[in-house]
Amino acid sequence: MKKAQEALLKWYETNGRHELPWRLTDNLYHIYLSEIMLQQTQVNRVRDEYYPQFLAKFSSLKALANAHQDDVLAAWSGLGYYSRARNLHKTAKLSLDGLPQTTKELMALPGIGEYTASAICSFGLDQNVPVVDTNIARVIKRHFALLSPKVKTVWAQAEVFVYAKSPRSHNLALMDLGATICLPKNPKCEECPLKSSCLGKNEPEIYTQTKKTLYENMELFLGVCIKNNKIALETSTQKMYKDMLVLPSVEPIEEDFIASFKHSYTKYRLVVKLYKSQELDQQDFRWVDIDKFHTAPISSLTKKARKFL
Ligand code: ADE
Repeated sequence: MKKAQEALLKWYETNGRHELPWRLTDNLYHIYLSEIMLQQTQVNRVRDEYYPQFLAKFSSLKALANAHQDDVLAAWSGLGYYSRARNLHKTAKLSLDGLPQTTKELMALPGIGEYTASAICSFGLDQNVPVVDTNIARVIKRHFALLSPKVKTVWAQAEVFVYAKSPRSHNLALMDLGATICLPKNPKCEECPLKSSCLGKNEPEIYTQTKKTLYENMELFLGVCIKNNKIALETSTQKMYKDMLVLPSVEPIEEDFIASFKHSYTKYRLVVKLYKSQELDQQDFRWVDIDKFHTAPISSLTKKARKFL
């Protein structure tokens, strides 16, 4: 383990993306802002456009707290997922003495889930905590040969792997390794600092992907809104599910996460993520008795979702 950790760190020193502005600061607000922006937006766009522009307008958490929500949303314009901006604003108002410095306290704030809280504590405070995003998860799964593991298992393995001597660099190194070497398709194994310890290397299912992708992977974010024992469903606009009742699509908000499950149909391999949703009451929904839900025209995907309610 130590050998792998050292090799990773050494690789990061020469190959890491050290010049990213949010890696050149220990300002928690700046790091927090970058992580929220990077959740659904490419690194270059955040670095060149949105991050500097937002900070020019709201240079501190206090400045953000004192701003008008309209101005915050305007600064977010074009980034999408506007609940991220509203939550950022709410969190600023709740953190007048600065952001808290533990994952637990951070996760109690609007819009901050496990990933964001860990990223703030690791990248901003060099705390000995694991960080798992999509790229890091792929590296961990491959390196430790985990076949279709639960999310929890990946986090637990990442926790075991964090290098206590340098947790911040360790996590950033894993992130960069996933983004540049341990690619989803055609990973550059020969250049990988972890190639000698990688347990997945000889497990084709984990490690390599055939050239032809037979499946299309997709994420689906669905909202669960229950009021007076009725659940909000909508009539699907998808050809394949015409006239079926489905859970409405929502913007993913980490803290409202309920559960996720896998579902396959035709060529699609879906990861379905369910979120609690309170903001659906304005819209035109079919409200279905929870007791009658299982008899409504719902797909097997929706049936699977029902088990988590
Ligand atoms: N550095 C720190 N967090 C990052 C992220 N989410 N994406 C890219 N680089 C980062």
